Amino acid sequence: MTNGWNESAEAWITDIGDAGDFGRKYVLDRPMLERVTGRGFTSAPDVGCGEGRFCRMLRERGIAPVGIDPTAALLKVARQRDPEGDYRFGLAEKLEFADASFDLVVSYLTLIDIADIDAAIPEMARVLKPGGTLLVANLASFNTASQPFGWKTGPDGQMYFAIDHYMTDRADWMQWRGIRIRNWHRPLSRYMTLFLGQGLELKSFLEPMPSAEADPAARERHHRVPYFVLMEWRKPAA
Ligand SMILES: C[S@@+](CC[C@H](N)C(=O)[O-])C[C@H]1O[C@@H](n2cnc3c(N)ncnc32)[C@H](O)[C@@H]1O
Repeated sequence: MTNGWNESAEAWITDIGDAGDFGRKYVLDRPMLERVTGRGFTSAPDVGCGEGRFCRMLRERGIAPVGIDPTAALLKVARQRDPEGDYRFGLAEKLEFADASFDLVVSYLTLIDIADIDAAIPEMARVLKPGGTLLVANLASFNTASQPFGWKTGPDGQMYFAIDHYMTDRADWMQWRGIRIRNWHRPLSRYMTLFLGQGLELKSFLEPMPSAEADPAARERHHRVPYFVLMEWRKPAA
């Protein structure tokens, strides 16, 4: 079944622009970049690179990225925007790299898009060198459990955020600003169990908040409801 990405590629590219959408620009870019800068990382697959924005940011910081994505329309734009870059058609579930190839692996808001997470997380761990870092930003599971309810007006006229069926894995169609894609909800323990099952060690876990310059109403929403998680995992040195 299609996941909607090829059909939504044009709207996605417009929406994300150069600076990124709200979550990237005001919430995730800063802690993601802090964790890759000045650490001596040399090369990294960006698994589910989309139109390549984070790959370009890695390259500006001296890290050689390999963008991996199964959406042809996004890869085409990634290559146009970064003709010297390395962008390859591929799936997280079957990374075409030898074991222990990289000191850094990046998954920037892609776990929610990957259908077979039981295959993908072991693949991300497999291609990491011992001592290497797996950096993951994802939508919070409390947030993905909101489909189809989300923000609703309560009987008192106040806005409330409803979630349901939290413990059930499922894919839901999400629609916003011309984009229509299929996203996966899984409880947080599903992801944590898979990372821990690969013997990875959790070095950092954040529920990042929007920066001070973000719209105050959006900051207020993020204080009421969790939107994102950021995790830094380390593969133990051999
Ligand atoms: C929300 S976008 C994130 C793109 C990019 N990482 C960013 O932050 O701008 C999710 C991406 O995951 C890709 N994707 C979907 N299924 C995938 C899979 N099985 N393996 C790898 N990437 C996948 C989509 O094509 C899309 O580019």
